[in-house]
Amino acid sequence: MNIVCLLPVLFWTSLATFRLIHGQATIPEEEILKLILSNYNDKARPGTVTTPTVKVDHTLSLLRIVEFGSKTLTAEVWQALHWKDPRLTWTPRSYHGLQSLSIPADSVWLPDVVLYNNGGSEQGQMSKVRATVYYHGMVYLVIPSRIVSYCDSSTPNEQGDVICQWKFGSWTNNGLKVNLTNSRPPDVSNYEVNSAVDVLKVDSTRNEIFYECCPEPYPDITYKLTLKRKQ
Ligand SMILES: *[C@@H]1O[C@H](CO)[C@@H](O)[C@H](O)[C@H]1NC(C)=O
Repeated sequence: MNIVCLLPVLFWTSLATFRLIHGQATIPEEEILKLILSNYNDKARPGTVTTPTVKVDHTLSLLRIVEFGSKTLTAEVWQALHWKDPRLTWTPRSYHGLQSLSIPADSVWLPDVVLYNNGGSEQGQMSKVRATVYYHGMVYLVIPSRIVSYCDSSTPNEQGDVICQWKFGSWTNNGLKVNLTNSRPPDVSNYEVNSAVDVLKVDSTRNEIFYECCPEPYPDITYKLTLKRKQ
């Protein structure tokens, strides 16, 4: 038998093997990931020519106060961020109706939102975080974080309250590139009562700072905690 006669045989055997390995097991998530991530560069900010500014929403859930020291406040929070990345879109109809998937956060572009008044080294555990991506390109990220911030509690006001602030902003992008928004007030529904300190109030504001040098705004989201030491 010459090689030409053998070719169809080889073809059918390899096809059979292929079917055995891959079978009918089409994996919709794998197909979607192939579509959205195979040419994806996670270093490119998802600003487009028509929508150059990426709107990044930042909200926060307060879980517990870990330590209320004289100069620093340590707390555990969930930072919730969401934004749209137009590269991460698909038609659910073509992928067995799958509308969302959970992927390691570091496989997509992430906004560089940091705590400006950081008083320690601990930030979110980004490496373990997964993001939920929806077919319309919205990316939802919840970062469990232990926040250590500067807060001087040595001079409380007349009521004995101390106000601590957390200021979050993008480290390298101005407001024309990453526009921070704050769609919801801070959530305290998961707050765990502390025996040493009462949290009287938590609120948030969106600020825009302009510097003399530059025309572009620098937005930040500032969370303000009103605390009182228990007697
Ligand atoms: C940023 O968001 C704020 C609040 O939604 C909006 O008023 C402002 O126009 C936005 N700026 C840019 C550059 O998109």
